[in-house]
Amino acid sequence: MEELEAPVEAYIREVPQEYKDGLARVEAKEAAIAAEKKAKAQAEKEKVQLQIEQAVATALESAKASSSKEKVSTSAAKAASADSLNVNWNKASSTDISVFFPGTASIEWILGRHHGGKRAFTKGDRCIECHAEEIADIGQNIVTGESEKELEPNVIPNKRGSIDVSIAATHDSESLYLKFSWPDGEHAPAPFVDGGKMDPENKMKLAFMIASDDVEFADRAGCWGTCHADANSMPFAPEQEVLSGSDLAKRLDFNNGVTKYLKETRSKLELKGRRGKALGGWDKLKSAEEIAEYQKAQQLMDIVRYSSGTKQVEDGQILDQRSMHGGQGAQAVASLKNGTWSVEIKRKLISSKPGDVSIEAGKVYNFGFAIHDDYSDARYHHVSFGYKLALDNNEAEINAVKQ
Ligand code: HEC
Repeated sequence: MEELEAPVEAYIREVPQEYKDGLARVEAKEAAIAAEKKAKAQAEKEKVQLQIEQAVATALESAKASSSKEKVSTSAAKAASADSLNVNWNKASSTDISVFFPGTASIEWILGRHHGGKRAFTKGDRCIECHAEEIADIGQNIVTGESEKELEPNVIPNKRGSIDVSIAATHDSESLYLKFSWPDGEHAPAPFVDGGKMDPENKMKLAFMIASDDVEFADRAGCWGTCHADANSMPFAPEQEVLSGSDLAKRLDFNNGVTKYLKETRSKLELKGRRGKALGGWDKLKSAEEIAEYQKAQQLMDIVRYSSGTKQVEDGQILDQRSMHGGQGAQAVASLKNGTWSVEIKRKLISSKPGDVSIEAGKVYNFGFAIHDDYSDARYHHVSFGYKLALDNNEAEINAVKQ
């Protein structure tokens, strides 16, 4: 098949100038539409902010005048400074990114023969170059079990296929601040768990990852490179007995099954699955020395995760496995108000702690995030494609502007 698919040199043709011109026209038009949409959203945001400020001013005025002075002024003061991370979100940029339900799609699936984008992806195309405009459709297709790719065998009736998230980003001289906001959804019980809640303790969990281009696929795929077909709850997850009986149990923590890992840490990833071979490479771990080299070079993905029930912020890394060792200790504040979730995260720009990717001005980083909506766990989350994050750089999709 590969030979048949290979380009034939004799058929190589120059791309006609006419086509290039047409493409440039379409791109300019799309960019203009996107810019207009962004400007409108910004204007809307400023209008709402003005309304809030006016409401606060009025509340403060009437508080002064009224006898129930104390009660009103505390609530007004709260509205004015709803930022316990001590950050001014009015100075942040804002981006809208939708996350979608991926089902069992893993990096092995992306690189395998059932994915239409395999060849272009391997050659360097980003997921969003092909999929940016159809995120909601992909999510809906998969979550309902209607995807012809059969990516979801355990359908959860009425689960939403995608979530529209708004990300505000800003920084000061020491820290990066990200605020994720999105609408809460209806509860859709999972039919395959007692009580319908996979993680009854946490209604919501949010995680994001940051990596440099040194991590394979991170430049195109955000955190998709860490998601494997043999991870916990995925189709080729090994049995717990197999894991605990393996020699690797001395080097990897299998309490939660196989966790996320980078391709670099394995000598081989099975992609074809011929003759029933399991996809993935959990058991092909490289030597401790090789892993230590990656660790030293910070060739890993930095991860921060917030859980709404336990109110825990975990900071860690993904390399040979997910390890939430603490890192720099990011901070978070979260709330669910009037049906809107809001998670604010603060993390240092520069850190020498293991597993922390330092963020420097002038560089562009790879970013991806996921939401475990509605008490879900393991693979039953909504995920983003890969995006770019940078400081004061208009070209990055997530542009953290200076306070
Ligand atoms: C060159 C374009 C291209 C790139 C790059 C690409 N894809 Fe695709 N993708 C496709 C095509 C084509 C399909 C098949 C659509 C179909 O058959 O209906 C597809 C299908 C999918 C599906 C299944 C959708 C469904 O409805 O079942 C998922 C999930 C997916 N891609 C994820 C990704 C991810 C994640 C990346 C990046 C890591 C990526 N794709 C990169 C072109 C691309």
